[in-house]
Amino acid sequence: MALPLAVADALSGTEEGQAGVEEEVRRLVARELHDRVAQTLTGMLVEVENFKSEQVGWQDVVHQLDLIQVSTRQVLASIRQMLHDLRGEEGLGGTFVDAVRAAVARFEEKSNIAVRVEVKEGWPQALNTAASLNLYRIIEESLANIRMHSGARNVSIVLGPLSESELGLTVVDDGRGVDTDPERPPGMGTIGMRERAMFLGGQLQIEGKPGKGTTVSAVFPKALLVAEPSPLSQTIPLSEAKRK
Ligand SMILES: Nc1ncnc2c1ncn2[C@@H]1O[C@H](COP(=O)(O)OP(=O)(O)O)[C@@H](O)[C@H]1O
Ligand SMILES: [Mg+2]
Repeated sequence: MALPLAVADALSGTEEGQAGVEEEVRRLVARELHDRVAQTLTGMLVEVENFKSEQVGWQDVVHQLDLIQVSTRQVLASIRQMLHDLRGEEGLGGTFVDAVRAAVARFEEKSNIAVRVEVKEGWPQALNTAASLNLYRIIEESLANIRMHSGARNVSIVLGPLSESELGLTVVDDGRGVDTDPERPPGMGTIGMRERAMFLGGQLQIEGKPGKGTTVSAVFPKALLVAEPSPLSQTIPLSEAKRK
């Protein structure tokens, strides 16, 4: 998917080239939306419709929900990859953990706040480009918030497996504790972090204890952080997922 955008620069110098690139990108986005989003969603609708007419027990309901969850994650991963490609975001360059350590070193220098980074056994050697970038941005925003809002002295960042299939990220500070009153509208930083987690098929939580600090924690399906998304691996039809 990234290809036409990669050649865009070379071609866009001329009006003709620009129009050609736009046309190519439009066709590509339409194709990707069709193959990787619409197809999967249609399949899910049909499956759900069929399922509603069956006489089933609770176990079957749970199984069906599992299948829907798998497909939803696949659709999200596809959209995430497309947005990533459309934005033309560059990767981090170097490994994710190296980039985090470098950001932490810069943060410590600027802020005088001590940061411990723990990478637990089982954290993958390499993440895919979109995962690296989005996880990095989540950490970056967490650190920016700590510097601006927390009054913390110490921060701990932990990257590690939570189970066979899930990876977790936590950023803990010992500052004043974020106010998570639902009446307070969320800030743009918070919304951005949640969206990035969602694009990686994960979920992000922010908890604060008054006077005792803030914890940002996120959990992700490992498979979606590790594999380089490829058109073929993205969309397993629901019927096929069922057989597994
Ligand atoms: N680590 C933290 N400690 C204390 N307060 C925090 C922390 N992180 C965020 N906050 C509070 O939550 C608010 C929303 O944060 P955010 O969504 O990143 O928006 P912004 O940083 O632009 O204000 C902040 O204004 C701040 O009051
Ligand atoms: Mg912020």
